Amino acid sequence: MNILITGGAGYIGSHTCVELLNAGYNIVVVDNLSNSSQLSLHRVRKITGKDFLFYKADIRDKNALETIFHDNQIGAVIHFAGLKAVGESVSMPLKYYQNNVAGTVTLCEVMEKHGVFHLVFSSSATVYGEQECVPVNEDSTLHATNPYGRTKLMIEDILRDLSNSDSNWSVALLRYFNPVGAHESGRIGEDPNGLPNNLVPYITQVAVGKLSELQVFGSDYPTADGTGVRDYIHVVDLAVGHIKALDKVLFSKGINAYNLGTGNGYSVLEMVHAFEEVIGRPIPYRLCVRRPGDIAISYADVRKAKLELGWEATKGINEMCKDSWRWQVENPNGYKEKYSEKMK
Ligand code: NAD
Ligand code: WQD
Repeated sequence: MNILITGGAGYIGSHTCVELLNAGYNIVVVDNLSNSSQLSLHRVRKITGKDFLFYKADIRDKNALETIFHDNQIGAVIHFAGLKAVGESVSMPLKYYQNNVAGTVTLCEVMEKHGVFHLVFSSSATVYGEQECVPVNEDSTLHATNPYGRTKLMIEDILRDLSNSDSNWSVALLRYFNPVGAHESGRIGEDPNGLPNNLVPYITQVAVGKLSELQVFGSDYPTADGTGVRDYIHVVDLAVGHIKALDKVLFSKGINAYNLGTGNGYSVLEMVHAFEEVIGRPIPYRLCVRRPGDIAISYADVRKAKLELGWEATKGINEMCKDSWRWQVENPNGYKEKYSEKMK
């Protein structure tokens, strides 16, 4: 049996491929490389010493998916493929609804046709919007505040409808908090295109000298130091969470949402200081106005994942910073300028 990984060349997908291969699963990867490089998969093979099939295809291409399901014994799908830039989703909403929502519908149609009903889906804590109570648990009201978030909410709804319509389906909706860090080998990590949107890649690019200073978005939030608080989770912990969720969907029915976070919140300045400790020098930053659409505090209630999946995060912010930094230093331009690296 093979596990199909959509979006497996991406940041979280590539780390999950490593953990799956190390755990003895056979995988097949499909990715259109719209936001990734095939080099990440080459490195997954190097890290694990294991091989797997890769299809360069778009999940909206039904014929391509048909071929993949026809030619490989797919037993379950872990579905990462999607666009994720919040700002871009505001200016290009149709691109997001088309890619994320229509892509997932096509994937589910092909799964259904081939009798594959086990699905682990990359949702996001963004589906909670601004919450009155933290930590936020899976039963909290759902409320997205931008088109990207709405694609996640719509897909969750579609998957709930699908599960209600046919009890064969078994689905895990994994609501990630803020994934950061990289594989400890320094070989795979997050490779944003252009100016990073997210805090950690921005900090590491300032620290490596590619950007001059970090803008801290807001210092007047109702938090201990006035800066926004988030639940940063190491990407390898997150990857392991997918294996636990896969085990769950393979041996049960129905649909369940799980928060994947650490349960701890850190402010922007706490993250800056944690990096300064790892790097051994100050990181230039400037306190600025709030970024529109940001919330003050977000961190997860992680009890459900622990109870039902037997999973909890093990890596703290020191490891997150160390591993992000190693990846940044060893790959200052991400996967770019490395095309000479021998590919199989
Ligand atoms: P990523 O961009 O690194 O990976 C996504 C991968 O999907 C890329 O390799 C991209 O080329 C591929 N892809 C996109 N559209 C596709 C399509 N139509 N067909 C085939 N491949 C396609 O992003 P990531 O950070 O690894 O995120 C993975 C998933 O997790 C996404 O669905 C994202 O929305 C979700 N998520 C990410 C975060 C985060 O902060 N990184 C947080 C919550 C949820
Ligand atoms: C974290 C904190 C910023 C950059 C986003 C998406 C969310 C999810 C994860 C996919 C906030 C502050 C940031 C900077 C800063 N993605 N910050 N200067 O906004 O919590 O979540 O990524 O599902 O949907 O919205 O993450 O890393 O952008 O910000 O001060 O240059 O860092 O204001 O407090 P966020 P982030």
